[in-house]
Amino acid sequence: MASLFSFSFSLCFTFLVLSTPSSANGNRGVKNCRSYCGNITIDYPFALQSGCGHPGFRDLLFCMNDVLMFHISSGSYRVLEIDYAYESLTLHDPHLSNCDAIFLGGRGNGFTVEEWRAPYFSPIQDNVFMLIGCSPRSPLFQGFPGKHMPCRNVSGMGCEEYYRCPAWSSLGQGVGLGWGPVYGSGPPECCAVAFEEIRAINLSKLECEAYSSAYSLAPLRQEGPSEWDYGIRVKYSVQGNDEYCQACEATGGECGYGDDVRQVCMCGGFNSTTNCDSVPSLATRRANSLGNVMAGFVMFFSVWKMTSGWR
Ligand SMILES: *[C@@H]1O[C@H](CO)[C@@H](O)[C@H](O)[C@H]1NC(C)=O
Ligand SMILES: *[C@@H]1O[C@H](CO)[C@@H](O)[C@H](O)[C@H]1NC(C)=O
Ligand SMILES: *[C@@H]1O[C@H](CO)[C@@H](O)[C@H](O)[C@H]1NC(C)=O
Ligand SMILES: *[C@@H]1O[C@H](CO)[C@@H](O)[C@H](O)[C@H]1NC(C)=O
Repeated sequence: MASLFSFSFSLCFTFLVLSTPSSANGNRGVKNCRSYCGNITIDYPFALQSGCGHPGFRDLLFCMNDVLMFHISSGSYRVLEIDYAYESLTLHDPHLSNCDAIFLGGRGNGFTVEEWRAPYFSPIQDNVFMLIGCSPRSPLFQGFPGKHMPCRNVSGMGCEEYYRCPAWSSLGQGVGLGWGPVYGSGPPECCAVAFEEIRAINLSKLECEAYSSAYSLAPLRQEGPSEWDYGIRVKYSVQGNDEYCQACEATGGECGYGDDVRQVCMCGGFNSTTNCDSVPSLATRRANSLGNVMAGFVMFFSVWKMTSGWR
């Protein structure tokens, strides 16, 4: 009896080991895509490792000394926050002017994304870009003589209010550029626009000296320009094909992409083009299910043997 029990137990154990290749030999293929940078969680569609996340978000985030950086064609930004529920993130550019200081010299990044990446990122509608010290020849003012047509308030934020910031009074002294809230017939010293109107905030192309950006997270409305949230608030989107990743994660997989930039579902021991319940490759799948059936049978048999033997 004892020998039969130990025989069936070892048989059962053998089949269990055989039938779970993912834990036995699959660890090479297992990635843990979720990670952290400082206190920011990096999760789908973002990733720090290549092969993880959505392909539209590849080569985008870098973690340096616990500082998360976002890299696009216009430059590198520090990521202050990623809001997964609202699919948005907040970026900071060291040359972004705010209420305390205006950084001249056209060194600011602005915001421009590569054409292939553009569908995935766009500053939110409640984000205002304030372009400062732009040349009268700037494309911003062409076609709108004297009217400054593109300049407007965005979500209650605009240059009229921004002029009240201390940054302007310190700028007026000594610089000799003649800037200030009062202007004559020329273009305004500051022109506020929403991103949709120009699509590319490129200071050299727009011939501007500086820029600022602030955003409003409705329904919160900040009182004055000193209370505004300065930074670039960007909405991200995986372009509607998120069902793929949801199905993958629901079956215990992690979403990634292959060398051909197609999405893959990483299922521990194998990669699937759909999800982890789908047939990975006929051979391993059949072996697995056969192993499971046999292990189950042996397990049942040995338990039945044990309990019936004890009665
Ligand atoms: C992360 O840490 C910084 C300070 O190091 C803090 O200002 C920020 O609020 C933290 N963010 C989160 C999401 O905890
Ligand atoms: C910005 O504009 C300049 C001048 O037109 C151009 O050379 C540069 O490539 C643009 N930058 C980006 C990031 O598009
Ligand atoms: C922006 O709003 C201010 C008041 O907050 C107003 O005085 C100004 O005329 C508005 N500017 C534009 C361009 O609509
Ligand atoms: C699955 O795909 C990921 C991302 O391309 C890759 O790093 C990994 O090696 C692949 N795993 C297997 C088992 O092929």
